[in-house]
Amino acid sequence: MYSLIRPLLFTLDAERSHDLTLDLLQTAYRTPGVATLVRRTYAGRIPALPVEVMGLRFPNPLGLAAGLDKEARCVAPLFDFGFGFLELGTVTPQPQPGNPKPRLFRLTRHAAIINRMGFNSSGLETFLGNLAAQPRHGLIGINLGKNKLTPDAQAIEDYLTGLRAVYANADYVTLNISSPNTPGLRALQDEAPLAALLTALKYEQALLARNHSRYVPIALKIAPDLDDAGIDAIARLLVERHVDAVIATNTTTMRPGLEHELKARETGGLSGRPLRTLSTQVIRRLYATLQGRIPIIGVGGISNADDAWEKLVAGADLIQLYTAFIYQGPGVVGNVVRGLAEKVRAYGATSLADALRRVRAA
Ligand SMILES: Cc1cc2nc3c(=O)[nH]c(=O)nc-3n(C[C@H](O)[C@H](O)[C@H](O)COP(=O)(O)O)c2cc1C
Repeated sequence: MYSLIRPLLFTLDAERSHDLTLDLLQTAYRTPGVATLVRRTYAGRIPALPVEVMGLRFPNPLGLAAGLDKEARCVAPLFDFGFGFLELGTVTPQPQPGNPKPRLFRLTRHAAIINRMGFNSSGLETFLGNLAAQPRHGLIGINLGKNKLTPDAQAIEDYLTGLRAVYANADYVTLNISSPNTPGLRALQDEAPLAALLTALKYEQALLARNHSRYVPIALKIAPDLDDAGIDAIARLLVERHVDAVIATNTTTMRPGLEHELKARETGGLSGRPLRTLSTQVIRRLYATLQGRIPIIGVGGISNADDAWEKLVAGADLIQLYTAFIYQGPGVVGNVVRGLAEKVRAYGATSLADALRRVRAA
């Protein structure tokens, strides 16, 4: 089905086609019967492949990465495509327009995207209103960012505001300090500012957990452009501050294998196939320090079950994708999960965790 629609969508400007698709999905879901049909066609054909991570039970390990549904507009259809969880956002405290357009570019030959969206966000209030208006049939992560106009010295305040606002509605919360498109944001990955951020957010999480009688895990999303010493320092801090998970990785400012591609000169973060190896290397490096003490959510260039398996074997407990969804449509979800279920069977394992234990021990 998507193979019929894709050529049409790809004739449009990338952002226009993105907005149009979300509009169409939202509208279609107001028609009785559509949700049932979508669920039967996609989620209904996906095998159960449960995993337990961060104290949460995921029906399968494949999630939607942040950035596709920044305003929580299409929660029901996205679950009906079969994702094991959705990460919504990035949402900033106040609404902001993001960078001037054009700011989203397809590199079709490379199954890649460059974006410099710059946290275009409806703001927390609209985001939470949208979320409340929809049924939710699964686990939802909410990805938090800072407003561009918030001075760097007050960045922590934006994350605290976000955490307090979304706490009751999130199954986990992500601190996004790794978008390359908000000036100064990635500096929060340096040791001293990161330690301050994590201390403040973990303290607030403890207060909120007491007030809400519910513990909501916090994940930190990092860039693929860190050197080994930087990754090791972050891994040590994650353990020290008892952060609940790490998401590796966001988009890259590098252009691996795209030196001769004119479009690759656009400023922004690169995602999709050319990011795959870089992000797997970060996962492997993180795992060497973390050793399973803190779960890793692996993301970057996953487009089939083998790519997903590569990330899991490198140390990931869950995986996410975004760009492959743009190129392959919703069918990619089932292909990845079915392929992983086959691998588990081929190992004669009782679960994905059991299969990974055997592979990692070998
Ligand atoms: C158009 C676009 C927008 C994105 N926006 C966000 C965002 O708002 N927050 C975030 O944490 N990551 C964002 N990302 C990064 C993805 O969540 C993911 O980390 C990255 O694209 C690598 O995965 P992929 O290769 O499967 O796309 C965005 C990616 C794309 C392509």
